[in-house]
Amino acid sequence: MSHQAAQALLTFIDQSPSPWHAVANLASRLDSQGFTELRESEAWALKAGARHYVVRDQSSIIAFVVGDGALEQHGFRIIGAHTDSPGLRVKPNAPHTAGPMVRLGVEVYGGPILATFTDRDLSLAGRVSLRSGPCAFDVASRLVHFEQPLVRIPNLAIHMNRAVNDEGLKLHKQRELPMMLSVVESQLPAAQGFNRLLAEQLGVDGKDILAFELAVCDTQKGAFFGPNREFFANSQLDNLASCHAGTEALLDSLTQDAAATRVIAFFDHEEVGSTSHKGADSSFLEDCLERIALAAGLMRGAYKQALAQSYLLSADMAHAYHPNYAEYYDAEHQAVLNQGPVIKHNHNVRYATDGLSAAFFLRLCELAEVPCQKYVHRNDIPCGSTIGPLAGAGLGLRAVDVGNPMWSMHSLRESAGTFDHGYMIKAMRQFFWSTAHQA
Ligand code: CO
Repeated sequence: MSHQAAQALLTFIDQSPSPWHAVANLASRLDSQGFTELRESEAWALKAGARHYVVRDQSSIIAFVVGDGALEQHGFRIIGAHTDSPGLRVKPNAPHTAGPMVRLGVEVYGGPILATFTDRDLSLAGRVSLRSGPCAFDVASRLVHFEQPLVRIPNLAIHMNRAVNDEGLKLHKQRELPMMLSVVESQLPAAQGFNRLLAEQLGVDGKDILAFELAVCDTQKGAFFGPNREFFANSQLDNLASCHAGTEALLDSLTQDAAATRVIAFFDHEEVGSTSHKGADSSFLEDCLERIALAAGLMRGAYKQALAQSYLLSADMAHAYHPNYAEYYDAEHQAVLNQGPVIKHNHNVRYATDGLSAAFFLRLCELAEVPCQKYVHRNDIPCGSTIGPLAGAGLGLRAVDVGNPMWSMHSLRESAGTFDHGYMIKAMRQFFWSTAHQA
């Protein structure tokens, strides 16, 4: 089996250390395949087969290919995922002195496994907002990525923390997460030193830096492991793997015309609840779908008809079985690496899957000739959720929650099965080809 799809994913993640970088890279991948950007602030004129994408605030993106069929009869085929990953984010007044050291203060974003950030070659990446003219609205933003290791959270030596192996590595979120940046220089206040660092990296005047959003990222590149390189590891597999699979499936599906309008919708802020102007609980998806319908000349009733013919495939990573922790899994619902995409079931609707949508995805996998698995979380462990129930509820869409199995979800270094990535792309491509009768 080929490593090609997984290799392309690792390269994409290596180049996408923050959600802003991920969206920029997805946009340029779409640009290279004949897609053009539409702005929400401008009028849209669309024709059958047109390929476009829309970006909201640089970290959420929706791309679509207008279908050949009447929209009210064939509807939308939508793949949803999220662009953000849990981790650490730099505070606005981050640089400060602590005795002889300059540290950077960080805020915890979502629910990362904090211990995985210690003793790693960390760096920073994200978006910087710059003064660009005389008005208050004259603000430009630039992406920044320090590719070399820049900061560190060193562990306390075991000689001072003898209990670490028995009690686990616990980090106090306020006191023990600030990152070491440098030794104090008597001439230069900490804030000024950090500002200079950013300015030099961007090639701008430090006085023009007004604000920044910086994620702490890993500098280690993605890698395969196992005797046949059947596994791989990288940061942000949850959920850049699903964004990458959805995008590649959309592009692969272009070899065939389709009656339905094909859509990929990837949102920021899933890890913190999705409620923002660009999250999955925002108007972004609804606004884009409605504007596609309006551009096709549909009245409101016909737009609602289109939604009733539509389907949402919500893709987010799933928990692979880990034999060292067998007691944390339901014995009859173990998802195994390299045995195909997982349908995520939860009767309490933490996942959007129902019997009909599960059956639909099983049929897609059959037609695409890829294996498929079923996952249920244990009753005595709280289950996570996805954008599936949210986006499905807002638009009244039938939805299925699926994802590839992975280990160490929310670690800075997650791992998954090499061959599942190609399987997922094939199943998703089949989804884009499905006709209204299947929905
Ligand atoms: Co996720």
